[in-house]
Amino acid sequence: MKSLKETTLKLVAMSLFPLALLACKGEPAVSFSQDVKPIIDQHCISCHKPDGQGVIASGFDMSSYDGLMKGAQFGPMIIAGDTEGSNMLVLMEGRADPSISMPHGQNEPVPKQDIETIRHWIAQGAKNN
Ligand code: HEC
Repeated sequence: MKSLKETTLKLVAMSLFPLALLACKGEPAVSFSQDVKPIIDQHCISCHKPDGQGVIASGFDMSSYDGLMKGAQFGPMIIAGDTEGSNMLVLMEGRADPSISMPHGQNEPVPKQDIETIRHWIAQGAKNN
């Protein structure tokens, strides 16, 4: 007889597999230039451009694809394909301490559907498309 643990692991693997497929196939491709960049330009760029307070404080320059992928002084903020490990999403979704959630201060929060767009873009490999 198989151990309960083995059976449980199998069940978990079987239920996750179709989800992983769906995440890749079910979503329309998200474009960096058409979909992601406009959201960043609206909500983040005022501080995260060269000489902006976000860049001065953290080194995170979001004014270009290269800057975005390079990340901040302590490492990348976006990990292609890894929505849980991408700190940019962690901060935007408010999964971190509110004092460091982004955007900062009095700025309007980014609408949920825009965060979803960025989430899908990262899940699809964070391409420069
Ligand atoms: C009002 C200015 C301002 C706006 C707007 C802003 N930021 Fe920031 N951001 C900062 C500052 C200042 C820091 C430095 C760290 C801190 O103070 O928390 C920072 C830090 C960060 C970091 C962390 C870098 C690190 O070293 O850990 C990320 C990621 C980030 N911002 C993403 C964003 C995103 C995404 C947006 C748009 C949704 C955004 N920010 C909008 C000012 C801003």
